[in-house]
Amino acid sequence: MTEESDPQDAIDSAGESKADALDPRVAEYTAGQKQEGIPFIGAGPGDPGLLTLTGKELVDEADLVVHAGSLVSSELLEEHCSHAELVNSVGKDLEELIPLMRDAYEDGENVVRLHSGDPAIYGAALEQIDALEREGVPAYIVPGVTSAFASAATMRTQLTLNEVANHVAFTRPQGKTLDPEDDHIADFVGMGDVTTCIYLGTHAIPETMDRLLEHEGVDPETPVAVVYHASWPDEDVMVGTVADIGEQVEAAGYRASAMVIIGEAATGSGYERSYLYGDWANRGGDGEGDAAEYPDDGKTAEPEVDD
Ligand SMILES: C[S@@+](CC[C@H](N)C(=O)[O-])C[C@H]1O[C@@H](n2cnc3c(N)ncnc32)[C@H](O)[C@@H]1O
Repeated sequence: MTEESDPQDAIDSAGESKADALDPRVAEYTAGQKQEGIPFIGAGPGDPGLLTLTGKELVDEADLVVHAGSLVSSELLEEHCSHAELVNSVGKDLEELIPLMRDAYEDGENVVRLHSGDPAIYGAALEQIDALEREGVPAYIVPGVTSAFASAATMRTQLTLNEVANHVAFTRPQGKTLDPEDDHIADFVGMGDVTTCIYLGTHAIPETMDRLLEHEGVDPETPVAVVYHASWPDEDVMVGTVADIGEQVEAAGYRASAMVIIGEAATGSGYERSYLYGDWANRGGDGEGDAAEYPDDGKTAEPEVDD
């Protein structure tokens, strides 16, 4: 493989140029606008209805769909992609994937890359985009619904909740990719007002909970929801606490494809009414006037009432 087509070299040189100057396309396009090149589309969590309209238009026009294997639901592939050639990216390294997409694109095919959820979360999309662009093939991201959001919807809750959780952590447990010292799950949970969403951790839920139980700041009764295959027909939900959820998941036998939500917000209980629908909103951002008159000019500070 030449230096020109070495993905690591592409990543390094893209990193250098991005640190120097903003890509002009940042100012040229807004998220959701179609651009020249291969779109990296967030397929959403599984339900075909949770693909965005732009994502659907792009897959409708596709000749080749390179998808993220079993994480993109077969229902979605059947419903939206059956007209196209399908290639499963699982088991293919960058050295195989990049020429595959590049050659098809250069042959004039409409190529789309379908990632599960949103490509910006544990999607490894950027390294593919940088490597493609190094090969002269433009690429861009079309966002999707990440599985944490789908799981919150299943649980009929919010990830942020007034007086319960002001912060959300998207995280993963230690393992092959993450060293133990870089596993911050116990720190997030120990903070108390953080909703912790664990990706890529289904196989390690009992061990993760054991580590939390050893952590001084973590209450063993902290609620935990595990949503397997959120939005799929076989979606399954388990609820418990840090102390007992591990056993439940082990008994159910799930080893992949679940979202773990830790924190009071998982239950949707214990919150206080927000300021948004209270008197405070009627006073506007500066405490004066009616919120309805708040000028959406991008310059006036907005009222902090998004709870
Ligand atoms: C490689 S990551 C990809 C995440 C994806 N980009 C997203 O935004 O949801 C895969 C992990 O996402 C979570 N995941 C993906 N789809 C899911 C679903 N439908 N239900 C629950 N968790 C899901 C699981 O934790 C899984 O291990």
